[in-house]
Amino acid sequence: MKQVYLDTFGCQMNVADTDRMELVLFHSGYRRTLEKEDADLILVNTCSIREKAEQKTFSLFGGLKPLKMANPDLILGLTGCLGQQDGEKLLKRMPYLDFVMGPDQVEGIAQAVDRVRTTSKSFVWTGFDQEKVYSIPELPGDLPKSPGPSAFVNIIKGCDKFCTFCVVPFTRGREKSREPEELYEEIRHLVSHGAKEIILLGQNVNSYGKRGLKKPMPFHELLYGVAEIPGVQRLRFTTSHPNDFTRETIRAYRDLDILVNHLHLPVQSGNNQVLRAMRRDHTIEEYRDLLAELKSEVPDIAISTDIIVGFPGETDSAFADTLKIMQEVGYSSSFMFAYSPRPGTPANELPDSVPEETKKQRLQKIIALQSQLTEQQGQSYIGKNVEVLIEGRSSKPGYTFKGRNPQYWNVNIQGDTLQAGETVTVQVETVSGHTLNATTP
Ligand code: 5AD
Ligand code: SF4
Repeated sequence: MKQVYLDTFGCQMNVADTDRMELVLFHSGYRRTLEKEDADLILVNTCSIREKAEQKTFSLFGGLKPLKMANPDLILGLTGCLGQQDGEKLLKRMPYLDFVMGPDQVEGIAQAVDRVRTTSKSFVWTGFDQEKVYSIPELPGDLPKSPGPSAFVNIIKGCDKFCTFCVVPFTRGREKSREPEELYEEIRHLVSHGAKEIILLGQNVNSYGKRGLKKPMPFHELLYGVAEIPGVQRLRFTTSHPNDFTRETIRAYRDLDILVNHLHLPVQSGNNQVLRAMRRDHTIEEYRDLLAELKSEVPDIAISTDIIVGFPGETDSAFADTLKIMQEVGYSSSFMFAYSPRPGTPANELPDSVPEETKKQRLQKIIALQSQLTEQQGQSYIGKNVEVLIEGRSSKPGYTFKGRNPQYWNVNIQGDTLQAGETVTVQVETVSGHTLNATTP
């Protein structure tokens, strides 16, 4: 049996792509190993969203080079967004690589490996698939691993938004949705293998159904469709764009019990001028109104977000607007980043006007504010009962299991007779960061 070592950088989409490659390779006789030294094939699924992600990839490959030198039969592949973006340049920089692939070649991973074996020549395989439809064919037979209680389902790929700072439209191409019937079938399959929670995945899930389907279908209809599948106990989706987030989707939160009370809605900045320069195509007032409407329908909904500080032209007062929207919304958690200029994006043409030191200080400030907001909300859970879908064993000393509540807080649980996949009501005793520590009452 041949062994593959897989490493993933970046977003959930990349994690899903890695899982898919594992599955395709499983059907070609590969089993996943957690030890690089034991591998016949090493794949690194890369990210290019920020410069830091790229640097991490290069330093990882620096560590893999000696393995390849010691064992020329080892196949070394670089896949994902950095592959799509830099192609040949990567082979020049790392001549010990066997191949470079983009995100649209995931399905062809076994072919790529065969090609290296038969030709012994390195190659680049990138570009976007030319098919009109986006389909992820089901593979017959066993699964390499159980999907677990919480499973991701890719509903749309690519992004047509072209925010000026973002490489995704260039690395993942145009939006294309998967047919609802194919999605329902996949979800039924996951449920039959133990999944209880389904997380619909895409760079902009709210744009689902606009392109690539035989018949266009709005995102909220998909939510209602998934809710009818027996055995789906919880439904989530990520990531959303405020401009495509509709009233009907707000109504779905109200109507569908399984649609849990959490929304990840990236704001990026609290300042209208910056939002315009980012080409987010909405104002901060529109964003605020949207959330006000959602909160009036679903009062206990938790909102999380993505924020960039130090975008070109962000003044002190523009930055203060970001602090303001964070306070107003009271995010439960945030992914926070310093702006990183990306080659080929429109914002890269603007002068990177905010000094690195200022970016760092602003980042520290929003991280500190977010900690306070998270702390305040965490405190309000103490002594209360929360419903947790148990996902697996906890690594925190004194706790046995871990899971999430509907609002997507991590929860550690003390309790002996529990098992993964079960939904239990537990009582919160303490809180640390975005994690609640609870005991079975
Ligand atoms: N610099 C910093 N952060 C970025 N993001 C995307 N591109 C950049 C960039 N060039 C962040 C955005 C996005 C998240 C996935 O990554 O906040 O929502
Ligand atoms: Fe990037 Fe904007 Fe698309 Fe999100 S919506 S993937 S930030 S271009």
